[in-house]
Amino acid sequence: MKIKWIGHSALLLEGSRKVLIDPFLTGNPVSETSVDDITECDIVIVTHDHGDHLGDSFDICKKTGATLVSLFEIAVKAEEEGLKAEQMNVGGTIENNGVKVSMVPALHTATLGGTAVGVVVELDGVSVYHAGDTGLTMDMTLIGEMYKPDIAFLPIDGRFTMTPRLAAKAVEMLKVPRVVPIHYNTFPAIESSPEEFKSLVGFRSEVIILKPGEIIKL
Ligand code: NI
Ligand code: MN
Repeated sequence: MKIKWIGHSALLLEGSRKVLIDPFLTGNPVSETSVDDITECDIVIVTHDHGDHLGDSFDICKKTGATLVSLFEIAVKAEEEGLKAEQMNVGGTIENNGVKVSMVPALHTATLGGTAVGVVVELDGVSVYHAGDTGLTMDMTLIGEMYKPDIAFLPIDGRFTMTPRLAAKAVEMLKVPRVVPIHYNTFPAIESSPEEFKSLVGFRSEVIILKPGEIIKL
């Protein structure tokens, strides 16, 4: 499977299916991908309704016929707009079109549903944890134990989500073999240091620092 970090929290998982997570493209200063570039997509996953995560998700579903997977309240809104949606909530796992999505807790606010969530996505035998926006929580230990992700994408901006120090603790709790820092340096208000994060993680996990638009293969 290929995973492209579009930038900020936006990921494209590409294997036997195409899955977008938090596709904030329009207005994203670091994204070189626009809605016009997305011609095919099977599933769009949204962690919460803040604009830098909900982004272009509804438009992409409209355009491609993709199914929107999200919290109950966001999925209902998508259905009201005529989109295909999978309603779910924290603790649940759904399978849609060969893609398994588990919804896990995140410590963060949102308007619809009141909270943000994280997701663990399984595609072609690879398990990817996208933490959404979150603070550090003891749940990281359980997420590691119950879903055993092969790779984690963790926010490190230090204003709206974890500082590099707290994100490094999350890696220790998750016991995840590979980790990619996200949600930093998109805007001046969220400047952070992936290098500091990498040195704090040390030997515990392989820290992969990507540039927006870069792809990794798993
Ligand atoms: Ni947020
Ligand atoms: Mn955010």
